Formats: sequence, C-alpha cells, structure tokens
Amino acid sequence: MQSSSVSLENIQKDFPILQRTVRDGKPLVYLDNASTTQKPIQVINAISDYYTNHNANIHRAVYALAEEATEAYEATRDKIAKFLNIKNREEVIFVRGTTEGINLVAYAWGRQHIKEGDIIVTTEYEHHSNIVPWQLLTKEKGAKLEYIGVDDNGELLLDQLDSYLKTGKVKLVTFSQMSNVLGTISNTEEIINKCKQAGVKTLIDGAQSVPHMKVDIEKLGCDFFAFSAHKMLGPTGVGILWVRKSVLETMEPFHGGGDMIREVHKYETTWNDLPYKFEAGTPNIADVIGFSAAIDYLTKIGMDTIRKHEIDLTKYALEKMSQIKGITLYGTKDLLKRGGVISFNFHDVHPHDVATIVDRDGIAIRSGHHCAQVLMERLEVAATNRASFYIYNTTADVDKLIKSLEKVAELFKL
Ligand code: ALA
Repeated sequence: MQSSSVSLENIQKDFPILQRTVRDGKPLVYLDNASTTQKPIQVINAISDYYTNHNANIHRAVYALAEEATEAYEATRDKIAKFLNIKNREEVIFVRGTTEGINLVAYAWGRQHIKEGDIIVTTEYEHHSNIVPWQLLTKEKGAKLEYIGVDDNGELLLDQLDSYLKTGKVKLVTFSQMSNVLGTISNTEEIINKCKQAGVKTLIDGAQSVPHMKVDIEKLGCDFFAFSAHKMLGPTGVGILWVRKSVLETMEPFHGGGDMIREVHKYETTWNDLPYKFEAGTPNIADVIGFSAAIDYLTKIGMDTIRKHEIDLTKYALEKMSQIKGITLYGTKDLLKRGGVISFNFHDVHPHDVATIVDRDGIAIRSGHHCAQVLMERLEVAATNRASFYIYNTTADVDKLIKSLEKVAELFKL
C-alpha cells in the first residue's frame, strides 16, 4: 500500500543507511525518528563539499574561502526564515539544538526577567530539556514552576492554564508543540492567545513539530521558538532559537567570546548586532550548511505532503497495533491531534526486552523514559516502547514491526 503521493521508493534511495542490513543480514527498519532522523545523500554531500572545497572560518577574513563559507552560512539563516515565515532574519539564532536554545532563554532572558514569587508554567508532557532549565531558574530566583496536566487521551488540561493565568503571577508559559512520547499536537495557537491576553510570554519547543508539519512562526505569535536540525534530516549539533526582536533586545548575552562582541577593552565590552550577540565562538559551519540541504530536501517534498504521509502511516499502524494481544497504546486516537509517534507497552514486559526482540528482526525502536520522566510518572510506568515515523517509512515497515511484535506477544504468552 502506497499511502501518499510522494514516491517513497525514490525517497528511500536517497538515504544510504537505509540500504544497509543489520543483525545477520536483516534489512534495517528505522523507526526511531523522534530521537533522530537519517540523512539523505544531499545533506551528506553538502557537508563533504564544504570541507572539501570551502572550509574557512566565517565573519572574520576577506579571502575567497572565508567569503564563500560566510555566504553559505548566512544563506541558511535566510532559508530558515523563509521556511518558517519569519520576517526578520536578525531573530534567527544558530544554537547546538533545542536544548541549548531553551537554556539560552532561561539564562539570558530568565535571569533578568524572572523574580521571586513569579510563576513559570510548563506541561506534564515536556522533554527534560523543557523542565530542567526552568527548575534551575526558579530555584535560583525563588520563583515557582507549575505544570499543566495531561488527560487520559494524552491532551493538555487547559483549564489548569486558565487558573494559573488568573493568579497574575505567570511570566512564561513553555510547552512542546508536539509531545515526543504521545505525539499529541498541542493547541498551540489557543495557548499562545490566552497568554498574550494575559501579557505572558510563550516559548514553543518545536523539536518534534517543525520536522513533521508546516509551522508559521509569524502566525503563531509566540515569543520564543526552538528546534533541532537532526530531527529533520539535518546534522546533529545544529538548532535554531527564534526570539521576537522586541524581546531579544532586552536580553543579555548567553556566552562570551568571539563574534558576539563589537569592542573589548580591559574591563568593558560592547556587543555585536543581533543575532551575532548570541552566537559566540566559531559556530558549527559545516553542519549549518548541511542543514540548508535538509531544508531544501523537505521543501521539495512539501511539509503538507509529509504531514499527510505520517497521518496515513499512523492510522495504518494504530489499526494494526491495536489488534495485537496484550498491547497498551498511549495517546489520542484523533489522528489530526497527533503526529507519527506511537508509544506502547505490553503489560509488565520490560520495554527493553521488547526493543531487543524486535531489534533481532532489524527494527530500531526506542525503549525507555524518552527524557520525559514527569510524563512517565503521569502514565504510571517506568518506561514505554516508541515507534516514530518519517517520510521514508512505509506500510511495509509497519507490517514488519507488527510481525515482530506478534512474536513478543507469543513469547510472553500474552
Ligand atoms: N528527544 C529525543 C527523543 O525523544 C532524544 O528520543
């Protein structure tokens, strides 16, 4: 069954790793895309071409290579702005990934704007990187961290947000646009609008959403937005933090060093223009250029096509998986409210045992707490298994997973 207008066969050919076998000749079935995605040859070639032909430091020298490297790096900033409908390129900051982006906000905005008694609101389905920086900050400032709960469908209990906002003490609401465990797509615009009306800043963790659906940052109207390249066909070690310019202008630097300065004297330094004030040191030039190729690749397919493909694949997988003996599936059944992420358990069979068994068939799924232990507590489990899809996955991959999971059910006599 071909579940989308995209020619999946051609897409798979672009990914060298998908041609390899694992575990004694089993073709690789890669279903851990929420963790990191595989890279097409176009991205691999772009990185190789940079090191082969253009390698030089950026923003520093006048020779030809330095100019070429700087141009390619800065062109990526423009490409990202276009991809997400960001009007102002000065708001696009290159960071190492979503985690660094959120930590930058906690440090450079939070330490200045959060005071004793203030409240920061996050959610029970956040990744640790959208919890721990706020724990550190609220402890340092004598502020409070509150959580929007998750209902049995895996959706946020937005009444709780209303109650927090009513206190008049909330300074920031920070949440994932898509949960990395349940796949739930948050009511992002509704939350942002409520916060705007209350004069509260919003930070969106887009690590799981930007790779899988069309995101329009201008339309969303949030204040901060962070995501990573490696979950969208790009290299590891590159991500984006977007900050609304009026907010960015109120922030002190995060890291000190080269490129973020205008002038340094013995006891005083003045800062470079935006966004360079927040990009200290030699950045990850090669991988930014690789990221550019990833965006080209995704743009060519189209984000709406990607979303449709994943809805189709998730529907197919959920229908088949729900028929497996002894399985518990987490998250909403409403396909329009979830991405291509399926967490599941088999009674008390340890998720690592399940993942080890399917690995013998060449299938890569993740098992563990998925860096979301607060959510694991809410679900009253220590861990889950998780299969997560991307554009190169097919219904044939799902069929292999199902067959392997049926073996698990048989083995454990479920
Ligand atoms: N955030 C990554 C995941 O969900 C590591 O697996």
